[in-house]
Amino acid sequence: MVYLNVVMHDLVQGAVRLRRATPADLERVLEIERFSFSAPWPREYLAQHLGDDGFVVLEYEGQIVGYTVIGIKIPSFLARLEQRTRALLTGQEPREPPPVGHILNIAVDPAFRRQGLGQRLLEYALDYCRYLGAEQVELEVRTSNTAAIGLYQKYGFVIRERVPYYYSDGEDAFVMVKKL
Ligand SMILES: CC(C)(COP(=O)(O)OP(=O)(O)OC[C@H]1O[C@@H](n2cnc3c(N)ncnc32)[C@H](O)[C@@H]1OP(=O)(O)O)[C@@H](O)C(=O)NCCC(=O)NCCS
Repeated sequence: MVYLNVVMHDLVQGAVRLRRATPADLERVLEIERFSFSAPWPREYLAQHLGDDGFVVLEYEGQIVGYTVIGIKIPSFLARLEQRTRALLTGQEPREPPPVGHILNIAVDPAFRRQGLGQRLLEYALDYCRYLGAEQVELEVRTSNTAAIGLYQKYGFVIRERVPYYYSDGEDAFVMVKKL
Protein backbone atom coordinates (compact mmCIF):
# COMPACT_ATOMS: atom_id res chain seq x y z
CA MET A 1 0.00 0.00 0.00
CA VAL A 2 2.32 2.65 -1.27
CA TYR A 3 -0.14 5.50 -0.82
CA LEU A 4 -1.58 4.47 2.53
CA ASN A 5 -0.32 7.49 4.47
CA VAL A 6 -1.85 9.91 1.97
CA VAL A 7 -5.26 9.20 3.47
CA MET A 8 -4.43 11.50 6.34
CA HIS A 9 -1.40 13.39 5.00
CA ASP A 10 -0.08 14.94 1.85
CA LEU A 11 1.79 12.75 -0.55
CA VAL A 12 4.60 14.35 -2.52
CA GLN A 13 6.48 12.37 -5.13
CA GLY A 14 8.71 14.42 -7.41
CA ALA A 15 6.60 17.06 -9.18
CA VAL A 16 3.34 15.40 -8.11
CA ARG A 17 1.44 16.15 -4.91
CA LEU A 18 -1.80 14.50 -3.85
CA ARG A 19 -3.79 16.20 -1.15
CA ARG A 20 -7.31 16.61 0.13
CA ALA A 21 -9.36 19.19 -1.83
CA THR A 22 -10.18 22.51 -0.14
CA PRO A 23 -12.79 25.19 -0.93
CA ALA A 24 -10.05 27.26 -2.63
CA ASP A 25 -9.60 24.45 -5.19
CA LEU A 26 -13.21 24.41 -6.33
CA GLU A 27 -12.93 26.84 -9.27
CA ARG A 28 -10.02 24.96 -10.82
CA VAL A 29 -11.66 21.58 -10.24
CA LEU A 30 -14.83 22.91 -11.91
CA GLU A 31 -12.76 24.11 -14.86
CA ILE A 32 -11.27 20.64 -15.38
CA GLU A 33 -14.69 19.06 -14.81
CA ARG A 34 -16.20 21.21 -17.60
CA PHE A 35 -13.33 20.39 -19.98
CA SER A 36 -13.75 16.69 -19.23
CA PHE A 37 -17.45 15.83 -19.25
CA SER A 38 -20.41 16.55 -21.53
CA ALA A 39 -22.61 16.64 -18.41
CA PRO A 40 -20.29 18.07 -15.74
CA TRP A 41 -21.14 17.87 -12.06
CA PRO A 42 -22.66 21.14 -10.83
CA ARG A 43 -20.66 23.26 -8.39
CA GLU A 44 -22.96 22.38 -5.46
CA TYR A 45 -22.46 18.67 -6.03
CA LEU A 46 -18.67 18.99 -6.00
CA ALA A 47 -18.86 21.34 -3.01
CA GLN A 48 -20.79 18.71 -1.04
CA HIS A 49 -17.71 16.48 -1.17
CA LEU A 50 -15.30 19.13 0.15
CA GLY A 51 -13.81 17.99 3.42
CA ASP A 52 -14.09 14.31 2.53
CA ASP A 53 -10.83 12.35 2.60
CA GLY A 54 -12.07 10.81 -0.63
CA PHE A 55 -11.97 14.13 -2.55
CA VAL A 56 -8.37 14.54 -3.60
CA VAL A 57 -6.62 16.89 -6.00
CA LEU A 58 -3.43 16.15 -7.88
CA GLU A 59 -0.97 19.03 -8.25
CA TYR A 60 1.72 18.91 -10.88
CA GLU A 61 4.50 21.45 -10.33
CA GLY A 62 2.16 23.35 -8.00
CA GLN A 63 -0.83 23.50 -10.36
CA ILE A 64 -3.99 21.42 -9.94
CA VAL A 65 -4.28 19.22 -13.02
CA GLY A 66 -6.55 16.41 -11.82
CA TYR A 67 -8.78 15.13 -9.05
CA THR A 68 -10.79 12.17 -7.93
CA VAL A 69 -13.83 11.71 -5.72
CA ILE A 70 -14.15 8.35 -3.99
CA GLY A 71 -17.10 7.10 -1.99
CA ILE A 72 -17.45 4.15 0.34
CA LYS A 73 -20.75 2.27 0.46
CA ILE A 74 -21.44 0.81 3.88
CA PRO A 75 -23.48 -2.41 3.62
CA SER A 76 -27.15 -1.91 4.44
CA PHE A 77 -28.78 -3.13 7.63
CA LEU A 78 -30.49 -5.86 5.59
CA ALA A 79 -27.21 -7.08 4.09
CA ARG A 80 -25.68 -7.27 7.58
CA LEU A 81 -28.70 -9.09 8.95
CA GLU A 82 -28.56 -11.59 6.09
CA GLN A 83 -24.87 -12.23 6.77
CA ARG A 84 -25.54 -12.81 10.48
CA THR A 85 -28.46 -15.14 9.78
CA ARG A 86 -26.33 -17.15 7.36
CA ALA A 87 -23.58 -17.39 9.97
CA LEU A 88 -26.08 -18.59 12.58
CA LEU A 89 -27.48 -21.22 10.22
CA THR A 90 -24.07 -22.52 9.15
CA GLY A 91 -22.49 -22.26 12.61
CA GLN A 92 -19.75 -20.03 11.26
CA GLU A 93 -18.30 -16.98 12.98
CA PRO A 94 -20.45 -13.95 11.96
CA ARG A 95 -18.55 -11.58 9.70
CA GLU A 96 -19.71 -8.10 8.77
CA PRO A 97 -19.96 -7.66 4.99
CA PRO A 98 -17.14 -5.33 3.95
CA PRO A 99 -17.76 -1.83 2.60
CA VAL A 100 -17.56 -1.33 -1.16
CA GLY A 101 -15.44 1.42 -2.74
CA HIS A 102 -17.04 3.57 -5.42
CA ILE A 103 -15.06 5.81 -7.74
CA LEU A 104 -17.50 8.65 -8.28
CA ASN A 105 -15.32 10.91 -10.38
CA ILE A 106 -11.82 11.09 -11.83
CA ALA A 107 -10.45 13.56 -14.36
CA VAL A 108 -7.20 15.02 -15.63
CA ASP A 109 -6.83 18.37 -17.43
CA PRO A 110 -6.75 17.58 -21.18
CA ALA A 111 -3.35 19.30 -21.51
CA PHE A 112 -1.83 16.88 -18.99
CA ARG A 113 -3.31 13.59 -20.17
CA ARG A 114 -1.32 10.53 -21.26
CA GLN A 115 1.45 11.24 -18.74
CA GLY A 116 0.45 8.71 -16.12
CA LEU A 117 -1.45 11.16 -13.90
CA GLY A 118 -4.78 9.36 -14.24
CA GLN A 119 -2.99 6.26 -13.05
CA ARG A 120 -1.67 8.10 -10.02
CA LEU A 121 -5.19 9.16 -9.09
CA LEU A 122 -6.57 5.67 -9.62
CA GLU A 123 -3.80 4.08 -7.53
CA TYR A 124 -4.63 6.52 -4.75
CA ALA A 125 -8.31 5.64 -5.03
CA LEU A 126 -7.61 1.91 -4.78
CA ASP A 127 -5.36 2.33 -1.75
CA TYR A 128 -7.91 4.58 -0.09
CA CYS A 129 -10.61 1.93 -0.54
CA ARG A 130 -8.32 -0.82 0.80
CA TYR A 131 -7.43 1.35 3.77
CA LEU A 132 -11.12 1.65 4.63
CA GLY A 133 -11.58 -2.11 4.48
CA ALA A 134 -13.22 -2.44 1.07
CA GLU A 135 -12.66 -5.70 -0.74
CA GLN A 136 -14.20 -4.50 -3.98
CA VAL A 137 -14.33 -1.25 -5.95
CA GLU A 138 -17.03 -0.31 -8.46
CA LEU A 139 -17.65 2.50 -10.92
CA GLU A 140 -19.83 3.49 -13.85
CA VAL A 141 -18.37 4.62 -17.15
CA ARG A 142 -19.87 5.64 -20.50
CA THR A 143 -19.63 2.79 -22.96
CA SER A 144 -17.98 5.20 -25.46
CA ASN A 145 -15.27 6.34 -23.01
CA THR A 146 -12.38 4.27 -24.36
CA ALA A 147 -9.71 6.26 -22.48
CA ALA A 148 -11.26 5.64 -19.07
CA ILE A 149 -12.17 2.03 -19.86
CA GLY A 150 -8.55 1.47 -20.95
CA LEU A 151 -7.30 2.96 -17.69
CA TYR A 152 -9.60 0.80 -15.57
CA GLN A 153 -8.80 -2.38 -17.51
CA LYS A 154 -5.10 -1.71 -17.06
CA TYR A 155 -5.74 -1.89 -13.31
CA GLY A 156 -7.75 -5.11 -13.48
CA PHE A 157 -11.30 -3.79 -13.57
CA VAL A 158 -13.76 -5.97 -15.50
CA ILE A 159 -17.16 -5.10 -16.95
CA ARG A 160 -19.89 -6.59 -14.73
CA GLU A 161 -22.93 -5.26 -16.56
CA ARG A 162 -24.21 -2.74 -19.06
CA VAL A 163 -26.90 -0.37 -17.78
CA PRO A 164 -29.07 0.98 -20.64
CA TYR A 165 -29.79 4.74 -20.71
CA TYR A 166 -27.80 5.31 -17.52
CA TYR A 167 -26.76 8.86 -18.46
CA SER A 168 -29.10 11.83 -18.95
CA ASP A 169 -28.36 11.94 -22.70
CA GLY A 170 -29.42 8.30 -23.02
CA GLU A 171 -25.96 6.71 -23.25
CA ASP A 172 -25.45 3.32 -21.61
CA ALA A 173 -23.00 2.75 -18.77
CA PHE A 174 -20.71 -0.14 -18.05
CA VAL A 175 -20.50 -1.03 -14.39
CA MET A 176 -16.88 -2.03 -13.86
CA VAL A 177 -15.61 -3.82 -10.76
CA LYS A 178 -12.30 -4.83 -9.28
CA LYS A 179 -11.57 -7.12 -6.35
CA LEU A 180 -8.99 -5.63 -4.00
C1 LIG B 1 -9.59 8.84 -18.14
C2 LIG B 1 -8.50 9.86 -17.78
C3 LIG B 1 -8.66 10.25 -16.31
C4 LIG B 1 -7.12 9.21 -17.97
O1 LIG B 1 -6.15 10.13 -17.50
P1 LIG B 1 -4.65 10.14 -18.11
O2 LIG B 1 -3.82 10.96 -17.19
O3 LIG B 1 -4.67 10.56 -19.53
O4 LIG B 1 -4.29 8.59 -18.03
P2 LIG B 1 -2.82 7.93 -17.94
O5 LIG B 1 -1.84 8.75 -18.71
O6 LIG B 1 -2.50 7.68 -16.51
O7 LIG B 1 -3.09 6.57 -18.72
C5 LIG B 1 -3.18 5.35 -18.05
C6 LIG B 1 -3.74 4.30 -18.96
O8 LIG B 1 -5.08 4.64 -19.32
C7 LIG B 1 -5.35 4.20 -20.66
N1 LIG B 1 -5.63 5.37 -21.48
C8 LIG B 1 -5.51 6.67 -21.12
N2 LIG B 1 -5.91 7.47 -22.14
C9 LIG B 1 -6.26 6.66 -23.15
C10 LIG B 1 -6.77 6.90 -24.46
N3 LIG B 1 -6.96 8.15 -24.91
N4 LIG B 1 -7.06 5.84 -25.24
C11 LIG B 1 -6.88 4.58 -24.78
N5 LIG B 1 -6.39 4.29 -23.54
C12 LIG B 1 -6.09 5.32 -22.75
C13 LIG B 1 -4.10 3.49 -21.13
O9 LIG B 1 -4.23 2.12 -20.76
C14 LIG B 1 -3.03 4.15 -20.28
O10 LIG B 1 -1.90 3.34 -20.09
P3 LIG B 1 -0.66 3.47 -21.15
O11 LIG B 1 -0.23 4.90 -21.09
O12 LIG B 1 0.35 2.51 -20.58
O13 LIG B 1 -1.22 3.08 -22.49
C15 LIG B 1 -8.58 11.11 -18.71
O14 LIG B 1 -8.64 10.68 -20.06
C16 LIG B 1 -9.76 12.01 -18.44
O15 LIG B 1 -9.71 12.88 -17.57
N6 LIG B 1 -10.87 11.83 -19.17
C17 LIG B 1 -12.06 12.67 -19.03
C18 LIG B 1 -12.77 12.38 -17.74
C19 LIG B 1 -13.26 10.94 -17.70
O16 LIG B 1 -13.75 10.41 -18.68
N7 LIG B 1 -13.16 10.33 -16.50
C20 LIG B 1 -13.62 8.97 -16.29
C21 LIG B 1 -15.03 8.97 -15.88
S1 LIG B 1 -15.65 7.31 -15.63
